[in-house]
Amino acid sequence: MNHGPLLFFGVLATLAASWLGLVAVPRQQLGTLDADLSTNAANVVVTHPPARSGEAAQGHAVYVSLGCAACHTQQVRPENGGSDVARGWGVRRSVARDYLRDEPVQLGASRLGPDLANFGDRLGTNAFNLVRLFNPRLVVTKSTCEGAPYLFEVRTLTGEPSAAALALGEPGREVVPKPAARQLAAYLASLSSGAELPEAPLPVKEEAK
Ligand code: HEC
Repeated sequence: MNHGPLLFFGVLATLAASWLGLVAVPRQQLGTLDADLSTNAANVVVTHPPARSGEAAQGHAVYVSLGCAACHTQQVRPENGGSDVARGWGVRRSVARDYLRDEPVQLGASRLGPDLANFGDRLGTNAFNLVRLFNPRLVVTKSTCEGAPYLFEVRTLTGEPSAAALALGEPGREVVPKPAARQLAAYLASLSSGAELPEAPLPVKEEAK
């Protein structure tokens, strides 16, 4: 008996079903996703995810090129799926819309370091970020974070220190960030996904009694 046609349609149906499930349906659900517009307490329209400054957008490319995602994720798991929210890595789970400004998205796969999805809300002022990028051990004793010291110029101080130099208080030398260091620091400061979205409401806090 000739099973050719049966085999052909069987293979076709299998491929069609996976295309529908993996391409067509997700595309229909997420393909037209756009930034969320809402009005804040001061009656100003805010977008989420917020647009990044040019410097921060360039910093994203630096982050990608240095492979920081090897040790850092950018995805907050839902409250019933892990302890990310309890640890203070975010106020709600991450959703697809949070990544609209990222190309390529830096989800990360391993967490040797903390999740950075909301690093800007947590700690990240630019000056502090620069010191951490130059030498993480100046901020956290025994840190195993790689940092990016090669994005800084270390000069012997002869006259007045440069205005852009880090405030390390070391006599005789100064550390000046190169443009890529400033971009990366601005990117880290921009990391924030705490806004309430229709698909990701903030967890309701229990009323204090
Ligand atoms: C070998 C793994 C590793 C790599 C690669 C790495 N980090 Fe880290 N990172 C860590 C660890 C571990 C910590 C926690 C210790 C600390 O705070 O320094 C950390 C902490 C941090 C923090 C502070 C987070 C917080 O919530 O306190 C930032 C910001 C950071 N890393 C940025 C970067 C950037 C930017 C890169 C890429 C240039 C990078 N890391 C590469 C391991 C890594």
